[in-house]
Amino acid sequence: MHALVVGASGGLGAAFVSLLAADPRITHATCWSRSETAATGAKVSGARIDLMDEATIETAAGNLAEVDLAIVATGLLHDGDRGPEKTWRSIDPAPMRRAFEINAIGPAIVAKHVLPHLAGNRRAVIAMLSARVGSISDNRSGGWHSYRASKAALNQIIRCLSIELAVRRPQAICVGLHPGTVDTALSRPFQVNVADGRLFTAEHAARCLLDVVDGLTPLQSGRVFDWAGKEIPP
Ligand SMILES: NC(=O)c1ccc[n+]([C@@H]2O[C@H](COP(=O)([O-])OP(=O)(O)OC[C@H]3O[C@@H](n4cnc5c(N)ncnc54)[C@H](OP(=O)(O)O)[C@@H]3O)[C@@H](O)[C@H]2O)c1
Repeated sequence: MHALVVGASGGLGAAFVSLLAADPRITHATCWSRSETAATGAKVSGARIDLMDEATIETAAGNLAEVDLAIVATGLLHDGDRGPEKTWRSIDPAPMRRAFEINAIGPAIVAKHVLPHLAGNRRAVIAMLSARVGSISDNRSGGWHSYRASKAALNQIIRCLSIELAVRRPQAICVGLHPGTVDTALSRPFQVNVADGRLFTAEHAARCLLDVVDGLTPLQSGRVFDWAGKEIPP
């Protein structure tokens, strides 16, 4: 099996790469990332991509062998000093646009170039890291407008892709994944209120999500699942 991890330089992305590289079922792991990754080994190869530059994704996809599992582990919650919005008064078009570019448009462009390489004659999965806060029906506390809305947009894109995939590749599965709260650079400024035992290591979260992915069938395509395999409502 050939696995592709997009965002291999991130906390979760790097954890996915090391787990997949150690999995005897995986014959090769391709890592796409904007920054340098620590991923090495005979089974691992890499390419540089930037979600903001479609040409880099198109070029990397040009060299892609048939893919059995693609994990898109890129994402953006905060940029430098600027945290997520606590109120509508903080809404600012530039960071909001950037959240949509990284969290929704980037994964859509990745799908555009990767889905033609998804194995067609057997089960294949494309899983994109989303977030529970992207659920509209589950939103009870508000705030984080850009992150929530861009992940909701991602979830809609996943749904659209799954409908098209069901026609073109009936054995393929396209899902969103919520990893829980994970100790990475993305969550670090927001970890103080996390209940004891609920801050996962990246390795634990990635292991849980790979187990969830292993159990999915095409009937579950288009939906979003958390680290425990529980569906997150749209
Ligand atoms: N950590 C959590 O608690 C948590 C909770 C819910 C959902 N998630 C989701 O899980 C996913 C992974 O998050 P993480 O915690 O692993 O965050 P992270 O450590 O900050 O990793 C984010 C990744 O996205 C990449 N990225 C950002 N902008 C990019 C661009 N323009 N082009 C290419 N790559 C780009 C980063 O690349 P660079 O290394 O080059 O910056 C990095 O590899 C995200 O979608 C996040 O929303 C995380």
